[in-house]
Amino acid sequence: MSVQSRAQTRCNWLPEITRHSGPVYLALVEEIARSVANGTLSVGERLPPQRLLADALGVTVGTVTRSYREAERRGLVEAKVGSGTRVKGNQADIPSFSHLSRASADSIDLSLSIPIPHLNRQQQFSAVLQRLANQPSSLDAALLYQAEQGHPEHRQRLALWLASQGVEVDWQELVFTEGGQHADYLAMQALVKPGEAVASAALTYPGMIAVARQLSLKHVPISTDAQGIRPDALDRACQRQRIRMLYVMPEFNNPTGERMSDDRRRAIVEVARRHDILIIEDAVQWVPASERGQPFFHLAPERSLFIFSVSKLLAGGLRFGVLRVPPALMGKVMTGLRAQCWATAGLVSDAAIEWLTSGIGDPLIEWQNEEVTIRHEILTQHLSGHQLTYHPHGFHSWLALPEPWRAKEFVEAAANVGVTIIDSEPFCVGSQPAPQAVRICVTPPTDREHIRIAAQRLAKLLDEGPSHNAVPI
Ligand SMILES: Cc1ncc(COP(=O)(O)O)c(C=O)c1O
Repeated sequence: MSVQSRAQTRCNWLPEITRHSGPVYLALVEEIARSVANGTLSVGERLPPQRLLADALGVTVGTVTRSYREAERRGLVEAKVGSGTRVKGNQADIPSFSHLSRASADSIDLSLSIPIPHLNRQQQFSAVLQRLANQPSSLDAALLYQAEQGHPEHRQRLALWLASQGVEVDWQELVFTEGGQHADYLAMQALVKPGEAVASAALTYPGMIAVARQLSLKHVPISTDAQGIRPDALDRACQRQRIRMLYVMPEFNNPTGERMSDDRRRAIVEVARRHDILIIEDAVQWVPASERGQPFFHLAPERSLFIFSVSKLLAGGLRFGVLRVPPALMGKVMTGLRAQCWATAGLVSDAAIEWLTSGIGDPLIEWQNEEVTIRHEILTQHLSGHQLTYHPHGFHSWLALPEPWRAKEFVEAAANVGVTIIDSEPFCVGSQPAPQAVRICVTPPTDREHIRIAAQRLAKLLDEGPSHNAVPI
């Protein structure tokens, strides 16, 4: 048997590169795309090792390496140190709501970053809608095509509310969006070209990872310390390549929880100015005014964007958010918004602004703030001695697992005792190895008792350690 035919029998997947003309490495990429589309390669499946596939096809290893790299750039596959190159699937790897259906009915869900369920939410929303229904002029205005950035009066009201929260902003610099995720997408789509680089903390919000992938942006992970992104690491990354935009969550990083001091923010601004980087501050995970540092756009108004949404304070289903844009960049952002949806829905901004700024929502927001803090206290009490990082008003805690727990194993063990949490994988930028850590959200249960029960179950698992499965041979 020749080397080639022996290699062919050992390959789990054999592409038909002769179907395609042009360079062999591109033919191989086309075959990967075709096999993913027709299901010959399934999501998560490992591509053959490069040397083996090269032997099987009678091409050089360099050709296979180049094609795998190109397939990764196109978002078809993902290379991870130690686990080869695997098929990625169509969707970016963000936590989806579908896992809930896999959770058993009595499972306690601590996986989603959502507002705490409360009957008052519906009651307040109903009051808001009734108010709007009784104002024919509002209804009239909502039925018209909207001003592209959002109704001026709504933007003024929102700017006043933001000022009351320590975020002074010129209402004319605000653009309404369909939630925070849309604001992330809009900013990156309008201001960063495919192939250019964006940077963020090495562990970051999966929705941002999804945007970078969707827009074919290079995503550069920046190392962090107890205060989040390190200016020196950002500086070094900028010396290696041109970075167009930096994504930050200075109040607390989702998922790892680090908070940036104002000095750290200033040091990052200094690097950003030196290398001409735009900064996008995602403040969707909202914290009260007393806890806020300087927004980046106060420190560097010419290059900083700012995102707020009502998703964590009032309701994620409203899909209402806002993007603060430096005046010099407004034209590009508005070109992007027009291409996407022209303008956002007037009825939605009407309802969101009325709820947020009329005082109707205040008791709920205050209650949730206090409740979140108490839930964190319960969690820390039960998991004392373990490494938890969180913001007292943030929706989640980040648990670094003790040896020898591995994150995926811990998530599975938690599911077996009726607790749903997520591991670190969806938060990892690029192909760096995921840390052995999990994110625990304290907001999905209706009451504290569920937090207590879940915390007890997790504490027991941590104390007992993983069960020893037979090692496959
Ligand atoms: C940091 C961050 N940004 C954006 C979003 C998405 O916000 P929205 O639901 O308003 O689209 C989330 C949601 O969890 C988030 O955590």
